Amino acid sequence: MNALHDRGVISRYREFLPVTDATPVVSLNEGSTPLIHSPKLSKIVGRGAEVYVKYEGLNPTGSFKDRGMTMAISKACERGVKAVICASTGNTSAAAAAYAARADLACAVLLPAGKIAAGKLLQAFIYGAKVVAIDGNFDDALRLVRELGADGRFEIVNSINPFRIEGQKTASFEIIEELGDAPDIHILPVGNAGNITAYWKGYCEFRDLGRATKRPRMAGFQAAGSAPVYLGHVVENPETVATAIRIGNPASWDGAKAAVKESDGCVDIVTDEQILDAQRWLASEEGIFVEPASAASVAGLMKCFTEEGRATCPFRNFPEGAKIVLTVTGHGLKDPEAPMVHGFKALEAKADAGAVAKVLGVE
Ligand code: F0G
Repeated sequence: MNALHDRGVISRYREFLPVTDATPVVSLNEGSTPLIHSPKLSKIVGRGAEVYVKYEGLNPTGSFKDRGMTMAISKACERGVKAVICASTGNTSAAAAAYAARADLACAVLLPAGKIAAGKLLQAFIYGAKVVAIDGNFDDALRLVRELGADGRFEIVNSINPFRIEGQKTASFEIIEELGDAPDIHILPVGNAGNITAYWKGYCEFRDLGRATKRPRMAGFQAAGSAPVYLGHVVENPETVATAIRIGNPASWDGAKAAVKESDGCVDIVTDEQILDAQRWLASEEGIFVEPASAASVAGLMKCFTEEGRATCPFRNFPEGAKIVLTVTGHGLKDPEAPMVHGFKALEAKADAGAVAKVLGVE
């Protein structure tokens, strides 16, 4: 492999991952996503804070799931597996289908019928997965996957597969390398809770290896209608416009709890309205278009640091010049329907410069 082709998270972080020379690396050059400074979010937080957005939507299938999937599929190949299976709210299935295609593995995905964003559903089909729409929610689908994976017919590539967490922890490594140390606060959306578990693992490992001097306080945000970790109990019928995190019984619940406790962090909620407003705000103010679940990070930051929120925010005494990282987990184009609540409509004009100038108000 020459340097140009030697990319992807396994290649970049091989020494920190459970791979050997016998592991066939299945990669789409995932990872190394941009950490974008946000002047406007920094200003909202104030006190010299620097806010950065980790734009995971720029991974090959448009979400952070690719980091974990390169590991899960590579390890499946190493073990000689022929077929993989996952339950998904849409992004895991897109990533599983793409990496399985590259590795010539059969892939089955179980999805809650009618609750998958259009772009994600299309991804599962076009990458060649067998798509099964379940008359139930994500939690039902994951239960079925556990049953179907139990006898070895399929390798499960949900984040209950520990290799997924291993791959996803590389996002923390990248942030530490780019900032020169860990940030003070890390904010991210929480659904099945694998990602907050993975980030925390990554931050702990690099701190323990002396590659960072500290670990951030972890802040997870759930949608108000799908907030089991926040509420402390299973939500039977989770609902939210952010379908990616429409989950009532997260598999990595304990991991999320540990991350929050050990880091002196928090799990909080944001409403669908706050999510959709934050999504539009980030696109129209900073030029970063993310899917609704990802905007929960931004809505969370705003909840913590705007006038009203600051009084009760657990981070209100943050140090002067604190570094805050928000993970935005998936690309906005995956879900072209949700933002249409804003009622976007084109101005209309005849094909005539004068008519166009008129509707633009620049006559
Ligand atoms: N953001 C997006 C865009 C997601 O797709 C997910 C999870 C999350 C956040 C939450 O991450 O589950 O690790 O806490 N999506 C899974 C899926 C459930 O099937 O694609 P988490």
